[in-house]
Amino acid sequence: MLTVRAPATSANLGSGFDVFGAALERPADIVRVERAEETTIEMSGAGSEFIPEDPAKNTAGAVAEALDAPARIKIDKGVRPASGLGSSAASAAGAALALNELYDRGLSRSELVPIAAEGEALVSGEAHQDNVAPALLGGFTIVADDGVTQVDSSIPLVVCLPDIVVSTRDARRVVPDSTSVENMVDTVGRAATLTVGMHREDPAMVGRGMEDNVVTPARAKLIDGYDAVRDAALDAGAMGVTVSGAGPGVIAACYESDRSAIAGAMLDAFDDVGVDSRAYQTRIGDGPTVY
Ligand code: HSE
Repeated sequence: MLTVRAPATSANLGSGFDVFGAALERPADIVRVERAEETTIEMSGAGSEFIPEDPAKNTAGAVAEALDAPARIKIDKGVRPASGLGSSAASAAGAALALNELYDRGLSRSELVPIAAEGEALVSGEAHQDNVAPALLGGFTIVADDGVTQVDSSIPLVVCLPDIVVSTRDARRVVPDSTSVENMVDTVGRAATLTVGMHREDPAMVGRGMEDNVVTPARAKLIDGYDAVRDAALDAGAMGVTVSGAGPGVIAACYESDRSAIAGAMLDAFDDVGVDSRAYQTRIGDGPTVY
């Protein structure tokens, strides 16, 4: 069997709604494939009981169809669905890379981005590329209408995942339809700061760039304890905190020496409001690995 490890990702990063994304060093999905007459899918791991194994309803099944690459596919989920950590994108990206190799389709990782996005659209309703782009290319990615830009980075991060579910569809419903010019100017400044911070590997600049007055305040209301968790992370040394993707994951950029204290503070703050959570001490990492 051919095996691919495909990373979790965090989209938006505050100021880059539907534009920015980053691959996380951990957690990750493991996707195994072997050639078959027709596609079958077996799911295991975190939250796999909520994911349909019917190839017509599974992201990996949609990718197999798009690549005309029928296979026996086994997915071990390290990335729980509805987490804000690009769960369906990890499976879609892993399947796309694995099936491309298995059938020698010869597509580049960039060329696989729209194919993996098709798979993601099957479950999320819209073909955003802001999770599949970093899941395939690694590092920090900027998805624009005219293409994807990728920058290698290794900024340390803490991601705290509360034991609550926020669906992407619900989280998109609360996004405001419009905003003020003042907010637009602020967002452009933050997004530019974050981009340069990624390039310079500067956690303080990245943290400043993660502030957002438009989308994040609306989504934070869907996450019990968000304000307390953000404040606890900042008190423990985080350079910036925001909602990961559509939530409910909360992501903090930081210096490596503060990562453990920040993880502890975020876990305690969720615990104080009666919400169980788990924390990943991670960093921006590489794209998928083929074994
Ligand atoms: N940018 C998307 C959102 C991420 O925040 O809704 C999910 O694809």
